[in-house]
Amino acid sequence: MNFPKIASLKTPDAFLDRLKELGVTLPFDETVEAGAASPLGQPIDSDAGVIGNRFAILPMEGWDGETNGLPTDLTRRRWRNFGLSGAGLIWGGEAVAVRHDGRANPNQLMLNDETAAAIESLRAELVDEHRKAFGSDDGLCVGLQLTHSGRYARPNDKKRLEPRVAYRHPVLDPRAGVTDDAAILTDDELDQLVDDFIAAAVLAQKIGFAFVDVKHCHGYLGHELLSGFDRPGKYGGDFEGRTRFLRNIVAGIRAAAPGLAMGVRLSIFDFSPYKPGPDGDGVPDVPGAYRYAFGGDGQGGIDLTEPSKFLSLLKELGIRLVCTTAGSPYYNPHIQRPATFPPSDGYQPPEDPLVGVARQIDATARLKSEHPDLVLVGSGYTYLQDWLPNVGQAAVRSGMVDSIGLGRMVLSYPDLPADVLAGTTLTRKKVCRTFSECTTAPRNGMVSGCYPLDPFYKARPEREKMLALTKGK
Ligand SMILES: Cc1cc2nc3c(=O)[nH]c(=O)nc-3n(C[C@H](O)[C@H](O)[C@H](O)COP(=O)(O)O)c2cc1C
Ligand code: SF4
Repeated sequence: MNFPKIASLKTPDAFLDRLKELGVTLPFDETVEAGAASPLGQPIDSDAGVIGNRFAILPMEGWDGETNGLPTDLTRRRWRNFGLSGAGLIWGGEAVAVRHDGRANPNQLMLNDETAAAIESLRAELVDEHRKAFGSDDGLCVGLQLTHSGRYARPNDKKRLEPRVAYRHPVLDPRAGVTDDAAILTDDELDQLVDDFIAAAVLAQKIGFAFVDVKHCHGYLGHELLSGFDRPGKYGGDFEGRTRFLRNIVAGIRAAAPGLAMGVRLSIFDFSPYKPGPDGDGVPDVPGAYRYAFGGDGQGGIDLTEPSKFLSLLKELGIRLVCTTAGSPYYNPHIQRPATFPPSDGYQPPEDPLVGVARQIDATARLKSEHPDLVLVGSGYTYLQDWLPNVGQAAVRSGMVDSIGLGRMVLSYPDLPADVLAGTTLTRKKVCRTFSECTTAPRNGMVSGCYPLDPFYKARPEREKMLALTKGK
């Protein structure tokens, strides 16, 4: 399906008319304010420290670590860019595996005794870069995202999935090559994994991170456990069982790393896996009733009852920092990172990507209204492109969300938050146009980066291969 590109919606009226045509509502401020008194310049008082403004950098891995889990120069460059962005909150940097079998690729960072010093310096370089650009690191809050990739683990070979799953799934099992129950993590194995998360959190505290994100999103293990309705035993079944993994990790971290703040990145709703339909547009692989979606209504729609209950649980556990996202980049990328162009293993967008942006913003706002005392960081704003500051400011100003999380946009335009906060006109040639090459590259064994717009990646040898894959789109 073809949709008007955002770059063609050149005035606020054109943008708002398009929203009207789609029947979609988004908050929108015609004028974006600058400076410390502006809505986006307001600090947030969090248990991880003061967050200086309302921009957050979302976690983004680059498939560019060493095979032993150490960062490389490419990783360091990305983290330095996060530092010079001007965002007050660095939500996790990137997914860091708590142990080898949980790595999403053989180049994913891993936190253990051998890598801790290098990951400490990664954080330090980010903070230095922020200090150089803004004179101080007051108001900079840096967390680390801890993960086990579960069904999407590829610890040894980029091309070979070695899935460890929460339960057998009728559609995702064949896609991941799961043919018997041996891939299911047993309760004892999950007990061990809880300890691995705790050990990683202890290290994260030692090396200076202000909080850890106990990742529960995107189809990885923590998220998959939340939809383990049929999983027998203590880690499945009812809400209590499905959240036991989180609760055990949190209790362990509280005991072993007192004072360390925690956050959770949560896919607040999910849909059926999608696949390309006859014309290439995405269609649900399970049309109609679908019972494996956490935050789903069982019929392919959204029901936030359990996600809201999950946020209440977080409060009971003393966790106030929550980053909302949706679905999974593997099985329904259009709801997670709305884009004009699909990644190479995806499908053409089945809806105007603006619908996907509005869906995430609306679901987050509904949860925020039920949990005003939590700090909610939203995701999925990059597709708004030139209008991102207008929508972001309006969303924060009207209390729909506390912080605007930026993913792809900071790969192409690292200092966008600084520009917005300074009142500088956006540099259009740096605005992410959602070409998805930062996803297509790793899907084809290459390091991730913004090949179309970042001069550094444009000059890399992989660019030629990317052009062939994307046929110069
Ligand atoms: C290259 C790339 C790597 C990503 N890596 C992670 C990750 O490590 N952890 C995570 O929670 N999300 C990851 N994401 C998802 C983003 O954090 C974000 O949710 C998504 O891109 C949508 O936000 P956006 O519209 O601002 O890009 C990644 C996204 C991209 C494009
Ligand atoms: S490759 Fe660059 S322009 Fe394309 S989606 Fe990623 S960040 Fe945006």
